[in-house]
Amino acid sequence: MGRRKNKKNWVVPRGAELTELDRRVLDFQERGCLVPPRRLVLDAEQVAGIRRSGVVNTGILDMLEGEVRAGMTTEDIDRLVREFTLSHGATPAPLGYDGFPKSCCTSLNEVVCHGIPSEFEVLEEGDILNVDVSTILGGYYSDASRMYIVGDSTSPEKERLVRVAKECLDIGAQAARPWGFVQDIGRAIAAHANRNGYSVVRDLCGHGVGLKFHDEPDVDHYDTGEQGMLLVPGMVFTIEPMINMGTWEVFVDEEDGWTVVTEDELPSAQWEHTFLMTEDGAEALTW
Ligand code: MF3
Ligand code: CO
Repeated sequence: MGRRKNKKNWVVPRGAELTELDRRVLDFQERGCLVPPRRLVLDAEQVAGIRRSGVVNTGILDMLEGEVRAGMTTEDIDRLVREFTLSHGATPAPLGYDGFPKSCCTSLNEVVCHGIPSEFEVLEEGDILNVDVSTILGGYYSDASRMYIVGDSTSPEKERLVRVAKECLDIGAQAARPWGFVQDIGRAIAAHANRNGYSVVRDLCGHGVGLKFHDEPDVDHYDTGEQGMLLVPGMVFTIEPMINMGTWEVFVDEEDGWTVVTEDELPSAQWEHTFLMTEDGAEALTW
């Protein structure tokens, strides 16, 4: 339970009969827990829409596996993402989002996230690259990213970072339990990163997704010391830990206002998926 008084988010419409779900959430709310607003518990039609969006989003990341190579630019990747998305009847969510100029984020080596694809940025053998793609299909949003190793291999240090970052995502997803709390995720991720000698970025978090690009709850990937929001079946959110080889501290490139870089300029790795909270655990809607 947080020390602050939590907002009473769960409001049952006037005159509506209380469902079993209402009773269960209200019980947590009465005990002072942070519970989601009712609109975050999605119905079957909404989940089906996000699922379809997630299929296209996953198709983009799969397509890139066969395309990423030394000598190409991150602008080339952006074009591939945009063309694939549009040809599947979908829209790239980043394009024009808060003024973001491209269709995906490409974050190379010491870039943590939100790197802007550029015709002047050429991939080199041994680079580690995160491509973050987000798709709108039929009004529904999905969001996922993977790491790509450019060329045949990278250094053992970067390879281990990429692997442990993926483990952090998987461990975070396993820690998400229905009727548990959002911070269960971050606590599990931070423990795994730290025991591997890595740090976890604090300035950026996962988020609710599906009806909007970014919604409640914030999904922190480090140990905040708070409990976070109650996880109710039907909620959809991302987990997207950014794991750094050195310090967790980051800065934003002043010139473009987007690119997030590690303070010590050591490498960073990130993997992201969109998850549906079910009665059995977190189900990946991207993969
Ligand atoms: N997965 C990233 C996020 O949720 C996608 C950012 S796209 C951008 O932050 F347009 F906001 F950069
Ligand atoms: Co995201």
